[in-house]
Amino acid sequence: MKDFKYYAPTEVAFGRDSEERIGELALKYGAHKVLVHYGGSSAVRSGLIDKVYGQLQKAGLAYVSLGGVVPNPRVSKVREGIELCRREGVDFILAVGGGSVIDSAKAISVGVPYDGDVWDFYTRKAYASVCLPLATVLTIPAAGSEMSDGSVITNEDGNLKKDYCTDIFRCKFAVMNPERTFTLPPFQTACGVVDMMMHTMERYFSHDDDMVLTDAVAESILRTVMDCAFKVLRDPQDYVARAQLMWAGSIAHNDLTGCGTTGDWGTHMIEHELSGMFDVAHGAGLAAVWGSWARNVYMLLPSRFARFAVNVMGVTNDFTSVEKTALAGIEAAERFFHAIGMPVSIPELIGRPATEEEILKMADTCTGGDSHSVGVFKPLWSADIAAIYRAANG
Ligand code: NZQ
Ligand code: ZN
Repeated sequence: MKDFKYYAPTEVAFGRDSEERIGELALKYGAHKVLVHYGGSSAVRSGLIDKVYGQLQKAGLAYVSLGGVVPNPRVSKVREGIELCRREGVDFILAVGGGSVIDSAKAISVGVPYDGDVWDFYTRKAYASVCLPLATVLTIPAAGSEMSDGSVITNEDGNLKKDYCTDIFRCKFAVMNPERTFTLPPFQTACGVVDMMMHTMERYFSHDDDMVLTDAVAESILRTVMDCAFKVLRDPQDYVARAQLMWAGSIAHNDLTGCGTTGDWGTHMIEHELSGMFDVAHGAGLAAVWGSWARNVYMLLPSRFARFAVNVMGVTNDFTSVEKTALAGIEAAERFFHAIGMPVSIPELIGRPATEEEILKMADTCTGGDSHSVGVFKPLWSADIAAIYRAANG
């Protein structure tokens, strides 16, 4: 069991009436002038943006707004936000949306007080020590950015998708009303389900397999999420199931499922290249490559995959062969992804196989030209990653 730090400083306001607390919470965390940052149209259409403005007005807070964040949020929008905040003297950012909006808000928050270009943080040229405080009104359970230390941004110049992690830009508060997620289309719902499962599984597939409590929490999250996925796909307005998913998205990525273990994150790195190159939804990209990653690595500790098969996927233990049980669990996970409408191969993801040139380019970028490996369960180099893309390409 590894020593660990657990740091989850975000105040969560959860439930049907949680939006009534937006103004009070913004004041509590020191806001005077707020940037309301949001995405394409869903938050405007649902009336949420007007509700947020109303709450800020009631609290006597000034605000400006910047919408138009797209999935796989772009650095150009971040730069626009930084300029706006500086011009308007904004001192607090409220992200109304999902992972893309929150990640864009996080990037703006560290970019405002920084003299150089914000992309420097994502290329490790600079490390932030100060930022504007930020918070979120969450509309899609998926990325877990509302409680995580991460931000993932795409630079259109080269289609590079990179992350930056720091405790300083964790959200001060997160307002979560499960009713807001009733309008999520089935595809986005399923992408979110895969992403929160993968945040749990990236931490679960570890050689540190003696953290009994962490494993139990992880397995419970995975079973609950799978069960609720079917419920909300059948009935999008099932409040109880939507609420389980919303909370699962947060605790799957606030490090609770990683206490005492070493996370892998290989599948995430492999996926980020896919969404950087093809602009696909992150959750769908994860589903498309996870099985190929798992088959590439499982022989290093088949018992771990067999445990997943039995405890999470409900596979019957084949006591004669741990490897067979492990493989049956991987297949069951792929069947689940299919059952909720997710792809399990690259052609299913992008509508055609990736070319060999694209595969080599993604594998090369993923490892910085083979200068570092990716993942911990099995450290993967360019050749391994290319093999995983090829296996997912069939
Ligand atoms: O733009 P609008 O119109 O709002 O539509 C959004 C968007 O098209 C829509 N949507 C959101 N809430 C809705 C809704 N539609 C109807 N009703 C609602 N209530 O959903 C679409 C996807 O939104 P997005 O924010 O992109 O989704 P998600 O939360 O999955 O975020 C994905 C991004 O997060 C990054 C991913 O790489 C990706 O860029 N990640 C961030 C992490 C982090 N910061 O810790 C960790 C993750 O592993 C992930 O990498
Ligand atoms: Zn993710």
